[in-house]
Amino acid sequence: MVTHKHLDNGFTYLDIRNRQAHAKVSLQGGHVFDYQLHDTEPTLWLSQTSFFHKDRAIRGGIPICWPWFGKNKNDTSLAQHGFARTSLWKLHAIKEINADTTSITLELNDSRQTRTLWPFKFKLTLLIIISDKLSLTLTTQNIDDKPFEISEALHSYFKVKDISQVTVKGLENISYIDQLKENTISRATLPIIINEEVDRIYYDTQDSCTLNDTHRKISIDNKGSFSTVVWNPWITKAKEMRDFDDQGYKRMLCIETGNVLQNSITIKAGESHSITQIISTL
Ligand code: BG6
Repeated sequence: MVTHKHLDNGFTYLDIRNRQAHAKVSLQGGHVFDYQLHDTEPTLWLSQTSFFHKDRAIRGGIPICWPWFGKNKNDTSLAQHGFARTSLWKLHAIKEINADTTSITLELNDSRQTRTLWPFKFKLTLLIIISDKLSLTLTTQNIDDKPFEISEALHSYFKVKDISQVTVKGLENISYIDQLKENTISRATLPIIINEEVDRIYYDTQDSCTLNDTHRKISIDNKGSFSTVVWNPWITKAKEMRDFDDQGYKRMLCIETGNVLQNSITIKAGESHSITQIISTL
């Protein structure tokens, strides 16, 4: 069942419920901000102090970073992580495929406003499949008459019970850019543990990685993605962000499926590119 709901401040979202799971999706940002298998705790983390406002990205869930990730390389005054996560998307389709599976398709098209930020014609489609797994496929179509380059990420915030007990497997022996150490390149042989601020862009990554929490595993399977970003702001940065609850850093970890920096994607006129993230909670 899919219901249109709204928060007290008027912010609207789709509430999706089927035999497997419950999810919440907002057209503002094309943003999945809750996903939960029945009788379990949420898979995605959501800040208790997130804004739910027009033009602000929700802090938690899965923001869409597009058409650039991080700072815009031509104009650093533009908003970090692009405009898709703050734009109002259109609802294209809702399909109740069967009792266990629901799909939602959202679209974002270029407009006069987007062309002042990024001078290209595009069609962006987000296919969200809610079932015993959560699957997101972001497809970029170049409908312009010239090629363009994008960087992108499905910026997933995962909920963990205790960050000090978490390990991430699948990124061992892969080079990463450490955004906290002047972009130096490093590589580690052991699974990742988080005991301080972490902001790493792994590049030329493999198809999957696993977040091991004390009581469950979250598996992240990727297609069309060649970068993985791992981020936890830790104590000081969490406090600096008004929309990030102060203790939240203990209960979250971002593992982002993307194409960033040297893995940015050039799409020719008339062509398209898709990136998929499939999240399984085990
Ligand atoms: C991560 C970046 O993807 O997003 C970090 O690697 C950044 O550098 C973080 O701080 C959050 O970004 P924002 O714009 O949502 O505060």
